[in-house]
This record gives sequence, C-alpha cells and structure tokens, in this order.
Amino acid sequence: MRQTIKEILRNPSIGREMTVSGWVRTRRNSGSLCFVEISDGSCLANLQVIADSGLENFSTEIKKLTTGSSVEVCGILVASPAKGQEVELQANKITVLGYADPAVYPLQKKRHSFEFLRSINHLRPRTNALGAVSRLRSALSLGIHEFFAEHGFFQVHTPIITTSDCEGAGEMFTVTALDTKQLGGPDPFGGDFFGRRAGLTVSGQLQAEVYAMALGRVYTFGPTFRAENSNTSRHLAEFWMVEPEMAFCDLACNMDVAESLIQTVIRRILDSCPDDLALFDRFVAKGLITKLESACAEKFVRLTYTDAIDILLEAQGKGGREFVVPVSWGMDMQAEHERFLCEEVARRPVIVTNYPRAIKPFYMRLDEGEKTVAAMDILVPGIGELVGGSQREERYDVLLARMEEAGLDVDEYSWYLDLRRYGSVVHSGFGLGFERFVQFVTGMANIRDVIPFPRTPGSAPC
Ligand code: 4AD
Ligand code: MG
Repeated sequence: MRQTIKEILRNPSIGREMTVSGWVRTRRNSGSLCFVEISDGSCLANLQVIADSGLENFSTEIKKLTTGSSVEVCGILVASPAKGQEVELQANKITVLGYADPAVYPLQKKRHSFEFLRSINHLRPRTNALGAVSRLRSALSLGIHEFFAEHGFFQVHTPIITTSDCEGAGEMFTVTALDTKQLGGPDPFGGDFFGRRAGLTVSGQLQAEVYAMALGRVYTFGPTFRAENSNTSRHLAEFWMVEPEMAFCDLACNMDVAESLIQTVIRRILDSCPDDLALFDRFVAKGLITKLESACAEKFVRLTYTDAIDILLEAQGKGGREFVVPVSWGMDMQAEHERFLCEEVARRPVIVTNYPRAIKPFYMRLDEGEKTVAAMDILVPGIGELVGGSQREERYDVLLARMEEAGLDVDEYSWYLDLRRYGSVVHSGFGLGFERFVQFVTGMANIRDVIPFPRTPGSAPC
C-alpha cells in the first residue's frame, strides 16, 4: 500500500522518493513553479507539492489543475523553506487521474454552510469539517470497542430484524415481504415472511440481556431504527447505539461503567486526534477542548429525578425561569429541562436516576415504594440526553405484572421471562446514542452532520 500523508508527516523521510495520491485542494502558479496542495483524507493536513516547468505536462495539465481533481505524484520529500509546513514534495512526475470541472464541481475553496453540504451528501466528506467528523467517528468507535475489550466484555451481534418492541413506544418500522395490497384483515402479517409482524430493531437490549445471562458482560453496537416523527437536531430515524449489558451489576455499578466509558473514550480522542479536535475548537465550538478535558477529569453530578424536578421547580418559581413546557413531578423531562440542569446548574454531565415508573419502559426495576424505577439517564451540555439505561427487573412476578400493565402479549415475551425463571440475577445496562456522542465530542450542532447518510422524516437520499 502506498504511504498516506498522515504517515509521511508523522515520520518524514527527507530525501526519499515516494508516491502520493490524493485530491487537489488548491493550486497556485508562480513563475516557473506551481504549488499544489493535495489531501488524501488520511489526516486534516494537506501535502504541498512543488512542480516546476521541467515536467512534461507542466503547461498542458499541471498549471490548469483545479480543486477536486485527483492526481498521483512521484517525487522527493524535501524540507520546506516556507512557513506553515515542515516538508513538501518536489515532484518528478504528476499524473492527472481525474478532472473535476470547476464550472460544475460544487466544492470550491470557500467555506460552505453545513446546510448546503447536506444537499451534496456524497461529496461532503471531502471538506475539512466533514472529513474530520468522519475520522473522529471512526476513532470513537474504535475507542468504544477497546474499552469493552479491556474490561472483559464480549461483543454480541443482536438482530436488526426483530419481533419485539423493546421500548414499547410503537416506533418500530415494519419489515414485510408482502405486497402492501395484501395487507389488511384481522391478521395482516399472518401470511407474511415471518408469519407475524416483524420490524427493525429499536434497541438490542432484550437480546443483549440473553447473552449477559450466559457470558456475564456483553455489549452490542449497531444500527437502531425509530419511526419517530421528531425533526430535531438530536433525532435520526436510523442511528447507532452502544448497549452494554452486565450480569451481577446494580444501578450504581451501571452508572460507574457509563461514566468510565465516556471519560476513557474522550481521553483517548484528546490524545489521538488533536488536529481534528483543534479544527472544531477553532471553527465550530470555541472552548471545545477545555470542555472535553473537564468532562473527563471531573466526576459527573448524580441526582435523583425527584431532586432534579425540585431544582427545576425552584428555577421556575423563585428563579423566574420560563420553560416552554412547565415543570411538574411525573413529567418526561424535555431537552430544555435536561440542558438547564447540565448547562446552568451543574455545568458538567449529570446522571439523573429513579424516574417515575409511568414514563419508563416495563423492563426497568421497580424501586421500593413502587413510584419510581431504577433508571438512569446521562445528560450532557449542548445536547441533553446522551445515555438511557437502568437496572433491569430480575424478579419474575414483578416483571410479569409490569408486562401485563404495559399491555404486552406475555406469550410473545416468554423467552424474556425465562431469563427470570432460570437462574435470574441482578443485572443492568444502558444505551449510549453514538451520534449524540459524536456531537458532544465535535461540538457539531446538528446530528445530520455526524452520520454519513442521515435518515430523517421525509429524507433518505442515496
Ligand atoms: O433512551 P433510549 O430509548 O434507551 C433504550 O433504547 C434502551 N433500551 C437502551 C438500553 O438500556 N440498552 O435510547 C438510548 C439512547 C438515548 O439516550 C439517545 O442518546 C439515543 O439512544 N437515541 C437517539 N439518537 C438519535 N436519534 C434518535 N431518534 C434517538 N433515540 C434515542
Ligand atoms: Mg431515553
């Protein structure tokens, strides 16, 4: 494999001949020389190529190179006399691989808005910002897998097609092999591929629980789908979720693992991706690096839901704070409340626990007093909810009653009840929304800009 610009800059071998391939960012002619900045996507930095008039295609091709064209350059790496870079490539040969007609190529040297870039989804990873998002996304994913491997977790591949609606929120996309004209009648999916209604998973949790009850510590990290009609900067119809599930682990242990995962992975990114992070700190979210440094150094604040509501009620009352949705105990907190708690009260990530049972799914463990459940959400500045999790209900009778209360068909979930029938143990887990994590780490305001191909209501191009 040929050397990448990242490798060349990390360990420059001055005087060595090498071949570099990439796309032209800029080209500047100066007398008998031509300066071409090329990028190969391996890092944020470009490599400057110097071409002189002795090259055979100097006047016919090199002098006319335009942004976006692809080239292969053979040359000698030399120390750069100019400011801004340590080395440059003195070209012996430049082959133009593909032209990009400047009259129609949409990415020019100026800065483009993220909104405009969304309309050219297939070209936007070639920009500095979206290239940096993509590299960080990959580094974050690797950091998550490493964290789990180092802590004795096994990765489980949970299904994408499922017949269980984990969150019970009715947001499952249906998967069918039937002609839609055939649908209807009392059992519309009876003659379908799976013989019953199937859908795209809203969470791998229930299946991860199966494996936690056999392997102890597991996690699943995959695409998740929700037919949720939320057109916000934090919601996607297809997103990736990281879901660990741990046997012999209670709510406190669950919070410790979540906090440690977030802090360890951020620490790694700060160390391994300084250039890409500096770009966001400079152009997207001033103070980002300081925010990330403190997020991984300071303990997260831990509050019960009831205490959180008291704080919000006080802000709403004595504090004179106006929320769009007024606060009261029992409500499902909105992003405005979540952000108030972590941005204005704690000024750091906050873990809220023990939510009212009525607003949380059936599988969460009922607390003593039965008004609340052993839930935990992690709220972070700029975003709100990043993590949702809980200790699971391990008591057969209590779980059965909760399922009946939620109106679930208990027979369809008998496999899930079996986990409580045979060798049940205390266990917990959580789901971390991967795109929201990428948003937190990059400071990108819109979730559509941290996933390669966003799917939102009314929009699924390419
Ligand atoms: O809070 P949620 O719905 O929790 C679950 O699905 C649990 N079964 C997870 C578990 O315990 N294993 O979702 C978890 C996280 C949220 O905190 C949020 O970060 C993200 O997933 N999320 C979304 N991200 C983008 N777009 C959406 N529509 C999302 N819905 C949830
Ligand atoms: Mg949630």
